[in-house]
Amino acid sequence: MNRTLLIAANWKMNSPPEGAFSKGSPYVPYEGIDVLVFPTFLYLKQSLDAGICTGGQYGHPDSHGAHTGDISIAMLKEIGCTHVLCGHSERRQGHGETNEDVSRQAQAALDLGLHPVICIGETAKQREAGEAESTVHTQLSALPLHSDITIAYEPIWAIGTGNTATPELAQTMHAFIRSLLPDQSREKIRILYGGSMKPENAEELLLKEDIDGGLIGGASLKPDEFATIVSIASSL
Ligand code: 13P
Repeated sequence: MNRTLLIAANWKMNSPPEGAFSKGSPYVPYEGIDVLVFPTFLYLKQSLDAGICTGGQYGHPDSHGAHTGDISIAMLKEIGCTHVLCGHSERRQGHGETNEDVSRQAQAALDLGLHPVICIGETAKQREAGEAESTVHTQLSALPLHSDITIAYEPIWAIGTGNTATPELAQTMHAFIRSLLPDQSREKIRILYGGSMKPENAEELLLKEDIDGGLIGGASLKPDEFATIVSIASSL
């Protein structure tokens, strides 16, 4: 595998962890791997000023207009962001984002030169019904898969629950996802795993062939734990 590992922190609707923007921050670029942070909109500027590779947790595909409460991908670009998260399950569930909405966001990001990190993943119910693969297949089919994007496989049953997917299950899903990518981008697109990744399980997950990094929620809010995961990733 010659894909550089990417360790991304999704702080969700939380304040930045203590020391995140100070000297010695574990969120700044690290040798040998890519490190990326998704803070709330309020902290994008501070994050960028601290030298952190920064993305928005969401961006509206229209550049401006009557969308109360939203921020556009164009605005993320204007402030200096290089990345945007698209279709996190908490946005799909809490804000009714559809596969088509997510695809529009990803395409708008690409048009503006921002890199979309696009989340897919099944619910526990879908997995129990044997629909995990068909669910991610449907989510993927809407996406601009020929482009320079990152995919994050985040099984919803593993998010914030402590129930991490086993490395074997995650690898099986990642390999399945990769098999659905077009020939030209199959080996280039990074597929991150997200769902209760922590220092205790990061190494065995990241060692899997088709797992190219992590999208980390809870553990990314603890600077020590995040630093440990970054250091594990850079040692692999
Ligand atoms: P946790 O790491 O808290 O399970 O969250 C994963 C996630 O949703 C990252 O986007």
